[in-house]
Amino acid sequence: MINKHYAGILGALVVAAVFSAPGNAQQGVEAKLQICSSCHGAEGRPISPGIPIIWGQTEYFLTKQLHDYISGDRESPIMSSLAKTLTQPELRPAAKYFSAKQWPAKTAQASAPAAPEGIALCQICHQQGFVGGLPAPRLAGQSYEYLLDAMKSFADGRRTNSEDMMKVMQGLQPAQMEAMARYISSL
Ligand code: HEC
Ligand code: HEC
Repeated sequence: MINKHYAGILGALVVAAVFSAPGNAQQGVEAKLQICSSCHGAEGRPISPGIPIIWGQTEYFLTKQLHDYISGDRESPIMSSLAKTLTQPELRPAAKYFSAKQWPAKTAQASAPAAPEGIALCQICHQQGFVGGLPAPRLAGQSYEYLLDAMKSFADGRRTNSEDMMKVMQGLQPAQMEAMARYISSL
């Protein structure tokens, strides 16, 4: 669904990237990262709820995801092509660049739902307030749609780049995942 939706944008962006490529080695990795904001947002707010926030995300996690998209350990045709525009030595600087930015401020919303049962387990790794900590990413404020899809994809084996997450998600019912995603996105 996402793929079809973004295939057009992606095609145009890749063409743009190729034509702006000559001589940009010295401009460093930041020049290559301008393209990322067309989906992940110029102010760090993604253009669609299916795209995750990467501004202010933990550096280790971002590096690992870029690496996994390139190796195929995490499947996404869109992100796999985009990650491959970066070289291996550029992955950590790219992750650092986004990690150093400010996670976008919360938008005004209705009152947060009460914490659902079982949420304490998640915080062992994702930390109090879901702010993230090695090796687990920040989840607080990520969209409901993205969180739920990520959780389901670990449960049903579409996403396999963390055995821990696969195990945890396989133990949850769909209704529990929905309640957790709703709560975490409200943080
Ligand atoms: C055409 C839109 C698009 C562009 C451009 C784009 N991304 Fe993405 N990005 C996505 C989508 C969609 C996902 C979620 C894919 C998935 O479910 O695995 C994603 C996921 C990611 C993730 C994983 C984050 C997480 O929380 O799991 C990282 C890291 C990332 N992108 C970095 C980048 C970088 C760096 C660039 C620029 C080189 C970039 N993206 C450009 C659409 C885009
Ligand atoms: C044993 C540690 C651990 C526990 C417990 C855990 N997680 Fe995770 N979680 C991780 C790690 C590590 C990742 C990053 C995996 C990767 O490399 O893609 C992750 C990734 C995720 C992601 C994907 C985020 C993204 O941006 O792509 C979601 C959503 C998530 N966890 C939700 C949860 C929820 C909800 C719970 C509780 C029911 C939970 N996790 C429990 C370690 C854990």
